[in-house]
Amino acid sequence: MTEGTPRRTLLKTIAAIPLAVTFGLLASPFLRYLRPTLKPLDVFGPSDQPQAESPVVFKESDFPVAWTCLPFSFDQSYIEYNPEGKETRKIPGYAVKLPSGEVVAYSRICPHLGCIFNFVKDPSECAKGYNYKPSGPVFACPCHLSVYDIEHGGKVVSGPAPRPPRHFDIKKEGDTYRIVALEAGGIA
Ligand code: FES
Repeated sequence: MTEGTPRRTLLKTIAAIPLAVTFGLLASPFLRYLRPTLKPLDVFGPSDQPQAESPVVFKESDFPVAWTCLPFSFDQSYIEYNPEGKETRKIPGYAVKLPSGEVVAYSRICPHLGCIFNFVKDPSECAKGYNYKPSGPVFACPCHLSVYDIEHGGKVVSGPAPRPPRHFDIKKEGDTYRIVALEAGGIA
């Protein structure tokens, strides 16, 4: 080994530092894409994704029969640059027991232009008020008459809505339903 070897190694290490920094800066946008954060290099900090303030809880006994529909308000908070460091939005929702026994939950914010839609149990009432006769209970929006098929994932069956309303994730623990998160991507 010559005397110049440690010096060469040191110089190589120093030369590699800008490369490592450049790689880190390039990796940051990719890592933030995978896990969004407000601060560019804070990929291990808390996520900027909206979080539930606390789950909405229902019991099995709250849904005595099929088509029981319960309104609720879901508090979702977002990291914000304000004194509280967050902003909380109240998202109105419906939890519905389907004839199959499954309980589903949807945001009531219409994906068309953001009105609050209704649960319409009676198909003939829907035919009169929303210009569409379904075969069972539906969600229906009074603003531009979009109608959603609750039994089929909120599929749009009438009106201008571009897609189903956002669903909530539900965790079932024993006889308890915990509504824990709103489908990602926005609130409408
Ligand atoms: S806002 Fe609901 S149909 Fe237009």
